[in-house]
Amino acid sequence: MRMYDIIEKKKRGGELSEGEIRELISLFTKGDIPDYQMSALLMAIYFKGMTEKETSILTDAMANSGDTVDLSAFGSGTVDKHSTGGVGDKTTLIVAPIVAAAGGIVAKMSGRGLGHTGGTVDKLESFPGFRTSLSADEFVSQVKRCNIAVIGQSADLAPADKLLYALRDVTATVDSIPLIASSIMSKKLAAGTRSIVLDVKCGSGAFMNTPEAARELASAMVSIGKSRGRNTAAVITNMDIPLGHAIGNALEVKEAIEVLKGKGPDDLREVCLTLSSVMLSLSLGISESEGMALAKDTLESGRAHLKFSEWIREQGGDESYALSPEKFGEAKYKLPLIAKSGGYIASTNAEKIGLAAAKLGAGRETKDSVIDPRAGIILHKKPGDMVSRGDVIATLYTEKQHTLAEAEAMLYESLVMSDSPIEKQKLIFGIIGG
Ligand code: URA
Repeated sequence: MRMYDIIEKKKRGGELSEGEIRELISLFTKGDIPDYQMSALLMAIYFKGMTEKETSILTDAMANSGDTVDLSAFGSGTVDKHSTGGVGDKTTLIVAPIVAAAGGIVAKMSGRGLGHTGGTVDKLESFPGFRTSLSADEFVSQVKRCNIAVIGQSADLAPADKLLYALRDVTATVDSIPLIASSIMSKKLAAGTRSIVLDVKCGSGAFMNTPEAARELASAMVSIGKSRGRNTAAVITNMDIPLGHAIGNALEVKEAIEVLKGKGPDDLREVCLTLSSVMLSLSLGISESEGMALAKDTLESGRAHLKFSEWIREQGGDESYALSPEKFGEAKYKLPLIAKSGGYIASTNAEKIGLAAAKLGAGRETKDSVIDPRAGIILHKKPGDMVSRGDVIATLYTEKQHTLAEAEAMLYESLVMSDSPIEKQKLIFGIIGG
């Protein structure tokens, strides 16, 4: 294979063969293709796209470029849920125990916060002692004991994706549907579950800003999953507005526990129930409406909260925090965000809110920054709500007093007010491939 010929073929819009794609990924992973040639190919793919067949083969080649997890011993009930990234997105903390308590098996690898978006691994590490890094044997044994394990991503999972992503990041080729879809799905395929549910976020806090773009990405990922023999579905959800009220690690854990106790914000509960219903439908082979009834019953009966506590305990965390979340305490400094005028909140910029939370210490400024679990933001008012001058719109929490002024300014910038009432935005834009 001559890399020059591959670049030339794609530049002219040709379809790469299975052999060409597999060899290309194998050589690149071994370091035998220089970055400048791979970058040229990525740009050609960016402009000319890939067929469904090419994308499916590329994903499979990336998935098999390193370790793969074998969950076959658990039968057909294993299920993973992946979010394309959002602000205030604590759904894994709620849907994993709902699905596990209802009979599914949730074995997954999750990420850390990235830019303005949070990550499940950082949230779980708010529990003293919780172990997000387990050996392969410990992972399997954790799944056997309580039907849930959530750990950080293994360094050797889909190494081709890691190398390609690093190149895409610096060559302006991240926002290509076949490249995003193959990147996400390669890691999901390698992680080994029979069923995969994708939460494709759409709006100002997401990769995809419009429902049309989100639907295109969702369809590409569902078709890859199905072509590789996995039950796959995608739920397209709103990320113009942060999900729930809490943004920041321990703050989000506390809000998730409220939902598990039958309270908490309606938007968060609705998205979690929808995701759980699709996960139960795929993993147990029931209809989505049966999945919804089962998810609601599991949540309302308290079984999901019990499963959550068990999960935290079995993965090394201090269970007493799951039972009494006030133990997480509060950050040392807090500041109310006061409405400067009356009216209705018309919209928010979820990305700016996520960046403000990161500034307060909930996210990382550099790769090595240390997260403050108690830092973040509680939004008391959200789009559609009426406010009077002087009302508290949000509260900022931090351990670093000097970050408050900048985060406050970012939050004011993120809000758009209106004099007339605003219609509530749609929360769920559709389900693909259920
Ligand atoms: N997340 C991924 O894992 N890969 C992408 O390309 C984009 C988002």
